[in-house]
Amino acid sequence: MRRPIVAGNWKMHGSRAENAALVEGILASWPTHAGDCVVCPPFVYLQELARILRGSPIQLGAQDTCAEPLGAFTGEVSAAMLRDVGCEYVIVGHSERRALYAEDDALVARKFAAAQGKGLIPILCVGETLAERDAGRTHEIVGRQLDAVLDLCGAAAFASAVLAYEPVWAIGTGRVASPEQAQDVHAFVRGRIAARDATIAGSVRILYGGSVKAGNARELFAMPDVDGGLIGGASLKAEEFVAILAAATA
Ligand code: 13P
Repeated sequence: MRRPIVAGNWKMHGSRAENAALVEGILASWPTHAGDCVVCPPFVYLQELARILRGSPIQLGAQDTCAEPLGAFTGEVSAAMLRDVGCEYVIVGHSERRALYAEDDALVARKFAAAQGKGLIPILCVGETLAERDAGRTHEIVGRQLDAVLDLCGAAAFASAVLAYEPVWAIGTGRVASPEQAQDVHAFVRGRIAARDATIAGSVRILYGGSVKAGNARELFAMPDVDGGLIGGASLKAEEFVAILAAATA
C-alpha cells in the first residue's frame, strides 16, 4: 500500500500574510486521516514557512532547484540551500519550467540528481501537450521525459522520489484528465520503471496534476495507480486543499 501524498504548488502566488493565513486555515481544519502533505511556496518564503510549519504535519518543498552545486549562477538557488532552509521536497521539470524557461530533459535529469544528492525528494513532473496527445504521442513523450532521469540516475533513484503526471492541457485550464486517462498514463509510467526494477515501480508514488479540485479529486485518487495529487490553483484555498487531502485518504 502506497502512502498517499498531496502537494500544493503555489507557483508565483502569495505574500507573507497570505501564506500564514493559508497554512493556518489548512491546519485549522486538518482532516483526520491525511497522508503526506507538502506545500511549495516561492523561494523567498521558504525559510519563514519552515519556521511556521515546524512540528506540523505539513512538509515544505521548493518549486525548482539549480542543477549546479554552487558558484557563478546569478539568480539561481542550489539544492543545498533548499535543504539548509528546511525543504524536504523539490519539484523538477514542471511543464511551466520546460515551456517558459526552455528546460530540456537532460537539464531536468541533472536537477533531479542534484536534488537527491543533497537529500531532497524530487517530485519529477512529466506530461504531454494537447497537440502531442491528439497526435497519439502521449506515451512516447512521457516515456522520453522519464527515460532521461532513469538513464542518468537509475531506477533505484525512484526509491526516494515522487512522480507527477501533469498533462499540459489540463494545467490551469479547468479541463481535467478523466480518471481513465490519468490511470492509463500512470500505469504506463509505472510499467516503464518496472521494466528496470519491479520492486521500485511498485512502491513509487505517482501524483496526478492538472485542474484537480475538491469536486474531482476523489474519483482521480480512486484509480489504482494514482497515489495523490500535485495541486496548483486549488492549493491556494484552504478549504479546497483540505478537501483534496481528505479525498486522498478516503
Ligand atoms: P492547476 O491545479 O492550477 O491546474 O495546476 C496544476 C499544476 O501545475 C501543479 O503543479
